[in-house]
Amino acid sequence: MIKLLILGPTGTTSKLISKLALIDQEIDVVAACDITNIGGDLGFLIGVKDPNNIKINDVDDLRDIINKTHPDVAVDFTVAQATEKNCVICVENGIRCVIGTTALSEGFFTTFEELVKKNKAPAVISPNMATGVNILFKMASILTKYLAEWDIEVLEAHHNRKIDAPSGTAMKIGQIISETLGSNFEDIAKFGRSRGPNKRSVGAKNEIGIHSIRAGDIIGDHTILYAGLGERIELRHQAHSRECFANGALKAIKFITTAKENKIYSTSEVLGL
Ligand SMILES: NC(=O)c1ccc[n+]([C@@H]2O[C@H](COP(=O)([O-])OP(=O)(O)OC[C@H]3O[C@@H](n4cnc5c(N)ncnc54)[C@H](O)[C@@H]3O)[C@@H](O)[C@H]2O)c1
Repeated sequence: MIKLLILGPTGTTSKLISKLALIDQEIDVVAACDITNIGGDLGFLIGVKDPNNIKINDVDDLRDIINKTHPDVAVDFTVAQATEKNCVICVENGIRCVIGTTALSEGFFTTFEELVKKNKAPAVISPNMATGVNILFKMASILTKYLAEWDIEVLEAHHNRKIDAPSGTAMKIGQIISETLGSNFEDIAKFGRSRGPNKRSVGAKNEIGIHSIRAGDIIGDHTILYAGLGERIELRHQAHSRECFANGALKAIKFITTAKENKIYSTSEVLGL
């Protein structure tokens, strides 16, 4: 059995992950830590019978909880600031992390990678754990090779509660396209377009435009638009429910338990793409 610690179990995505984890035959949820609902009953919160009667603990007591429950894996879909603190504590204790939180800082990746090696605790970090999105990543690299001369724009839409923009997924798509074009993402990314100070329109040549919409309860849409003369191709992924992310997280939890290399894995590697 995989002993699992859930960080931020009261969150929208984490509630679903908790639900799947509690009914999974290979997973034993041993602890849950958050900043809200402390002392609350995890099973009651998500409407599932919890064999372990896990209570939600204060994340400030994370070190104590780890010492008492000895988790193998921690799953974290919270906020970047919290992840950068809590997952460092986990990896320092040899716990393998599955991190879905987006907008993590560059500095965190560097530090975390060193800790993964030092503590021999591999991790999965992925801005999007949905199978379809990871296939979209693969298709983007193939299509970009053939359409390098066309204009390429990335459009993403999410619910109005999302705190980061552009989405981690749109950033990853931009990075994949840039790598395929042999360019530096920072040099060619253009975040939104507006009319310049001289009121002329802003052209798209030699740039990847990345555009964000925040509206209603849209779970997550990503479109890559390739446009040439007189024709265009659109690659689109739409999430209908958060189950695609929660299922992906469960796959990652099982994958990382037996992963051999002390490194940070992507969802593409989890799925063997
Ligand atoms: N990788 C993916 O596939 C994927 C899919 C969906 C969402 N996300 C990302 O996951 C994150 C969470 O998204 P959401 O929509 O579920 O958010 P949410 O706001 O519904 O949930 C965030 C959770 O984090 C908890 N939290 C905040 N600070 C904490 C702390 N210090 N310690 C422990 N818990 C803390 C909150 O109490 C809450 O339970 C975002 O970064 C989002 O972009 C990733």
